[in-house]
Amino acid sequence: SAAAMAGKERTSISSILTCPSGISTLKHMIAGQIYKDYKWKVTAENVAVTAGGKQALFESMFAILQEGDEVIIPTPGWVTYKYQIILNNAKPILAPLNKKFDLDIKEIQKVISKRTKAIILNSPNNPSGSFYSAASLIALKKIIKNKAIYLIVDDIYSKIIYDKTYRTPALFAPQKKYLILINSFSKSQALAGWRVGYVIANKEIIQAVTSYQSHTTGNVSLLSQIAAQEIIKKGDKTKKFIQILKKRRKIVAKLLQTIPRISYDLPKGAFYYFINVSRIETNTEKFCEHLLEAGLALVPGEAFGSPGFVRLSFSASTSKLIKGIKIFKKICKKY
Ligand SMILES: Cc1ncc(COP(=O)(O)O)c(C=O)c1O
Repeated sequence: SAAAMAGKERTSISSILTCPSGISTLKHMIAGQIYKDYKWKVTAENVAVTAGGKQALFESMFAILQEGDEVIIPTPGWVTYKYQIILNNAKPILAPLNKKFDLDIKEIQKVISKRTKAIILNSPNNPSGSFYSAASLIALKKIIKNKAIYLIVDDIYSKIIYDKTYRTPALFAPQKKYLILINSFSKSQALAGWRVGYVIANKEIIQAVTSYQSHTTGNVSLLSQIAAQEIIKKGDKTKKFIQILKKRRKIVAKLLQTIPRISYDLPKGAFYYFINVSRIETNTEKFCEHLLEAGLALVPGEAFGSPGFVRLSFSASTSKLIKGIKIFKKICKKY
């Protein structure tokens, strides 16, 4: 386990503060990993280790945003983006995805303005479990080619993929200086509580992130950084994890099929089913309250800008999934 791995390196853990942007060895290892995964030549100076993807996102937006700037979020999108943009005195601009939850370039074109500072791309996507097609990413690349618009690529689910046609949005950035890549050990390594992630960006952004971090949290816990190092050293174990998730995805599909009046696509990535329950209830906040009272926690679509949907995570154990979907079925029938 990560705890045991970190324990093995205990001798190298001192009690002093270390560099706010991360220990040097880890930053070098991450830079190497980025070249392997993205063929993007970066150095340790392009890396900041953060307390999860959340801090990486917040701090990189802090680095680039000025008051009144606009950031485009393809919607449905992860709930936190909107609030982080607001916390940075900027304006979240929602651009709906199409029916297949792919980028709708016309919708993005419609909302691009002089104030557009960044577009957040999260593919595979939380909550839809879908990913953006290469065709839509090529089209996006064309329309932002000559613009000073940052692409914030939240690749936290990029290793959790069930479909070979996947390409990370990071490969479609017109200019690397406008690419901000976010990742974390929370999802693919199931280490959410360890709070370790990172941002890859140009040196100026990394300097601003480092300065912010220096005056707020300081370095990420050394234990977590050493655990991250061990994970990179030992090689990615995501494949095993994906096999387990694939089984769960199948079991959930089988069970959901028996529930009338709902619709959904088979997730292509991440570990979420985004279920359309609008034929049962359009106020999904209310609907989820009923589910919660019955013992099942699903996230209402309202949280992602898509009322009429509920998000089901299949990262839970099979027995919990079976139990949970039984409750879901019962409430759907009763409604
Ligand atoms: C799309 C997305 N990005 C980022 C995060 C942040 O993860 P963490 O801060 O645990 O690394 C999450 C977690 O739910 C997420 O779903």
